[in-house]
Amino acid sequence: MKLYIGVDLGTSAVKLLLMDAEGQIKNVVSKEYPLEFPQPGWSQQNPEDWRKAVMEGIPELLRGFDGADVAGIGCGGQMHGLVVLDSDDNVIRPAILWNDGRTARQVDYLNNVIGKEKLSALTANIAFAGFTAPKILWMKEAEPENYAKIAKIMLPKDYVNYILTGVHACDYSDASGMLLLDVEHKCWSKEMLDICGVSENQMPKLFESFQCIGTVKPEIAKALGIGENVKVAAGAGDNAAAAIGTGVVGEGGCNISLGTSGTVFISSKSFGVDKNNALHAFAHADGGYHLMGCMLSAASCNKWLMDEIFQTSDYAAEQAPITEDKLGENHVYFLPYLMGERSPINDTNARGTFIGMTMDTTRSDLTQAVLEGVAYAIRDSVEVARSLGIEISSSKICGGGAKSPLWKKMIANILNADLLCLESEQGPGMGGAMLAMVACGEYETVQAACDKIVHVASTVKPEPALVAKYEKRYQQFKKIYPACKQLFADFAKE
Ligand code: XUL
Repeated sequence: MKLYIGVDLGTSAVKLLLMDAEGQIKNVVSKEYPLEFPQPGWSQQNPEDWRKAVMEGIPELLRGFDGADVAGIGCGGQMHGLVVLDSDDNVIRPAILWNDGRTARQVDYLNNVIGKEKLSALTANIAFAGFTAPKILWMKEAEPENYAKIAKIMLPKDYVNYILTGVHACDYSDASGMLLLDVEHKCWSKEMLDICGVSENQMPKLFESFQCIGTVKPEIAKALGIGENVKVAAGAGDNAAAAIGTGVVGEGGCNISLGTSGTVFISSKSFGVDKNNALHAFAHADGGYHLMGCMLSAASCNKWLMDEIFQTSDYAAEQAPITEDKLGENHVYFLPYLMGERSPINDTNARGTFIGMTMDTTRSDLTQAVLEGVAYAIRDSVEVARSLGIEISSSKICGGGAKSPLWKKMIANILNADLLCLESEQGPGMGGAMLAMVACGEYETVQAACDKIVHVASTVKPEPALVAKYEKRYQQFKKIYPACKQLFADFAKE
């Protein structure tokens, strides 16, 4: 029996899964690591923690199995994080993550001095605070001694792949989020590298996600208890990997991921750009392309309310009082901008906000407002896609938040779209394992692996009466951010 390891290198934990070639999940292991917020809006992590979690997690994953059966490893990783190594391969500083907002000044320089039109022509995207290029510029200004030491630039999952293989590689889907890749032509943009003052030899070698970048180094294979000929796939950004895991490949598929971030991912066979650049135009892990809206805080808003504010771990108990009759009736709203926001408003100053409370507002009204606020914000990205003529009448859904039937019902009705729930909700890890299967020749294409492995288990359908109620609420929600925008900007100056 051949086995494949899928690695989902997330923001709060690495989730590892062991799968056979038929897609049967044999084991799952999760290892948490800390996330630092050294200043408001900053977010960083220590790459050493990822290395440790993967190196300890894989032997644990393989307990009770024969490590010699492992044929391949594939990783889907949190995107955009800046990982920098010196010439001795030491990590120079903590990785600056996808939800870090410290680069407002560099984003302003890129979008307004270099200019959005030029950025879009070179990379198919404009600058957002979490993207990698503004972080390189930030390092250049804020930490010139560190910047001068940079020998290798890579993304989080590429660091894991580098530890495993010693190959400095990146795939096109993840590289798309650096603002350094010419996404349409799938090569580094020399002009963008010049703007950031980096050279091509500091950058990883580029691959399709399903290509093999190399085999596991002998000493690593020994430590993990696997063979030396185990192949490592280039892997993908976590959203592209999740889309593989939910079978969103080829033309016109949609996947919603409700993880720490919330994303709306639309697959396409051909390259295309949203002319307002509100949605990202990236390469997909199946060899094609995708458009994506990304909100910075999705399931993390609920986690924040439960863990930090209500101080409970029983999320289901908090959702139990939110009965059918309460849906579409809540007059409390929540703006889910706890880390600022990326799509579609691109505003690092935006903040989480409750509005509309009265003396009879209950604890569960607040929970409901948070779940609905995230769903309304997802709708904001869906509306941008719809305005481009893309039909979204159904979507797959994955991520931790997708475990809540209540949240799925809200989303289906707020979007007025069918939500297709999968037999296995393993998102990026499953996609990673499937990419490894293609890299090992188990399947000829990513599409063939999806056809065999991904199965829809159930569908949540919108209900016309509830859709109408939520439509009114969404129209009200839409007015809140524009009314607060100037306040957020003023507060940020103080
Ligand atoms: C996508 C993005 C997030 C991270 C989360 O652009 O920033 O979805 O990939 O891990």
